[in-house]
Amino acid sequence: MKQIRKAVFPVAGLGTRFLPATKASPKEMLPIVDKPLIQYGVEEAIAAGIRQMVFVTSSSKRAIEDHFDRNAELEHELEQRGKQELLKMVHSIVPPEISCIYIRQPEALGLGHAVLCAKPVIGDEPFAVILADDLIDGENVPCLSQMVKLFLREQSSIIGVERIPQEESYKYGIVEPSNLYDRVFDVKSIVEKPKPEVAPSNLAVVGRYLLSAEIFEHLEKIPRGAGGEIQLTDAIAALLKDRRVLAYEFQGRRYDCGSKLGYLQATVDYALKHPEVATSFRDFLKHTTL
Ligand code: UTP
Repeated sequence: MKQIRKAVFPVAGLGTRFLPATKASPKEMLPIVDKPLIQYGVEEAIAAGIRQMVFVTSSSKRAIEDHFDRNAELEHELEQRGKQELLKMVHSIVPPEISCIYIRQPEALGLGHAVLCAKPVIGDEPFAVILADDLIDGENVPCLSQMVKLFLREQSSIIGVERIPQEESYKYGIVEPSNLYDRVFDVKSIVEKPKPEVAPSNLAVVGRYLLSAEIFEHLEKIPRGAGGEIQLTDAIAALLKDRRVLAYEFQGRRYDCGSKLGYLQATVDYALKHPEVATSFRDFLKHTTL
């Protein structure tokens, strides 16, 4: 029986929707309250039992490597000042059993190309892909854990989907589903950013995938698609021709933190749950004139 042991984090995009904040620092380092987006993604992978994190980075993303590395000077200072709680928190960013691997994507040729860059470290195992700018609050069970549970039962590729207003289909990959059972669909076809009038459904692909390593063969073969980029959606469409792919409508709420509005919504919702600031922030919001 196959397991999911590795997660790929494509973090080499340009983040143009969030300029100028993303000019010199990666959008995945934008904090939601006090934690960068990428750390939420890594925590979700760890919760799903994944131990190897593969980051596909670019030259302007060094802050991500530094975030998951030791910072001897900071640790020494915290130690000296007796700040044991903070020290514990800094150490817990990467637990000892977790390994982090970094691969460069030399040019931003698209999400599909970024995933293909991870091929040498993935080998022939099934793996997860997490887009950290899609922050998902899985309510009781994190989104990736829900998907891994389904994977262990079904042993096939799974893409995370959510229902969107049909008029927004042009922003997403959209699946043509055939309902199997509660929240689980057989994917008949998948299309990148269709116009609402031709979208096959309102089930949109969001940033969580569990993929068979066969996806690499397709990523190597497909031509450049929308925007001149190598699209992961196109490779999944090719995979579908000879393998079963499932869509899973996860339980929870997704925030598109690559957009300003989604980022602000996540900040407010997470702040209202944060043990340190929730009460005073709620108070602040109550007294804010809208
Ligand atoms: P997006 O579509 O969000 O693109 O990429 P982007 O460049 O990051 O942001 P905008 O749209 O310009 O604001 C989806 C995911 O794929 C990664 C991004 O880092 C993001 O996690 N990606 C995209 C790469 O790693 N490499 C690429 O060439 C393109």
